[in-house]
Amino acid sequence: MKPTSRANRFIELEDRYGAHNYRPLPVVLASGKGCYVKDVDGKAYFDFLSAYSAVNQGHCHPKIVAALKAQAETLCLTSRAFYNDCLGPYEEFMHHFFGYDKVLPMNTGAEGVETALKLARKWGYLKKGIPRDEAIIVACEGNFHGRTLAAVSLSTNPEARDDYGPYLPGIEVIPYNNVEALESLLTEKGERVAGFLVEPIQGEAGVYVPDDGYLKRCYELCRKHNVLFIADEVQTGIARTGRMLCCDHEGVRPDIVVLGKALSGGVLPVSAVLADDEVMLTIQPGQHGSTFGGFPLACKVAVAALEVVKEENLAEKAERLGAIFRKEMRQIESPFIGQVRGKGLLNAVVIIPHNGKEAWDVCLAMAENGLLAKPTHQHIIRFAPPLVISEEELREAIGIIYHTLQSLE
Ligand SMILES: Cc1ncc(COP(=O)(O)O)c(C=O)c1O
Repeated sequence: MKPTSRANRFIELEDRYGAHNYRPLPVVLASGKGCYVKDVDGKAYFDFLSAYSAVNQGHCHPKIVAALKAQAETLCLTSRAFYNDCLGPYEEFMHHFFGYDKVLPMNTGAEGVETALKLARKWGYLKKGIPRDEAIIVACEGNFHGRTLAAVSLSTNPEARDDYGPYLPGIEVIPYNNVEALESLLTEKGERVAGFLVEPIQGEAGVYVPDDGYLKRCYELCRKHNVLFIADEVQTGIARTGRMLCCDHEGVRPDIVVLGKALSGGVLPVSAVLADDEVMLTIQPGQHGSTFGGFPLACKVAVAALEVVKEENLAEKAERLGAIFRKEMRQIESPFIGQVRGKGLLNAVVIIPHNGKEAWDVCLAMAENGLLAKPTHQHIIRFAPPLVISEEELREAIGIIYHTLQSLE
């Protein structure tokens, strides 16, 4: 796929003046609506990345944009030095929506995770009685929790981690989807473990769906050893997998939930940490915060974004359309398709290199044909359209994937 000279202008600018910390597909986007985006030359694409699941409600959802505009003209930012008339109502809304005593508002997903880790350590010292500076956080191999130093300290991905040391101490990493590994670690060191941090599905790792019952059994082990079960639902939450939270599939209520991305429908960076008083109130004034966390604009946008999820039944839709997607993809006979997996509309296809072409080439060809997706870890393509996509649009998109794979054989 060769970018036009118009597109190339923008690509060159990013290349010349921006840090080289991403490797985008050579597509320059200029507008978006629902499940579509358009490039600078006016070509339309299905967006099957949804900004890594931040745009569950579709691009530029009118209700969310209206909330943004109205508040932007009224009051944007006050900092938390004062009260404002948006934060309290938002916090009450979140309490009723997710059923936790309290919310701690932040901005990015990584900050949400950072906050959850700080909360777990505080709780570990103040409530569980772990000796000072000895708290352990348990994470899983293959995790992705963001780009902060704490998050990369948890990471087992050399690309994300290498040359950023020294790393945060007090971390133990165990295999994902392995209850026995958690059990033996907690049996050995449970008294010092403050929290077990887990993605209900590992998204960035390539949409690894754990065995049924994994989350529930881990949760029970956490209960037994008085350890906080911390769910990073930044990517899996807000209806993406067919439930409001992915943990809902197993009836697990985490002690701490981290949300981000679609909490704003992709309009602003808005993240949140949910917990009950016993955990949340271990952090006192002055001990944590963020200039923008819980700013009026974010509060209004998040309420609108969550209302859209409910009003448009996006969880049910993700469940139904996800089943169609996997069924159709599994029926495609193609030497490129290794495995199709996922839950709701968080899906991935493992690509077997064929004819000298790998996942990157498949993504380039799909883009040419009007569908955007991005490889993760070289051989996996994630397919995660906005949840507002209709069945008809989904079937059209599957047609594009099918014809693209055929044309590459
Ligand atoms: C599970 C998970 N946690 C945390 C993050 C980090 O979120 P952000 O990029 O908003 O910092 C991501 C981002 O992809 C994620 O998938």
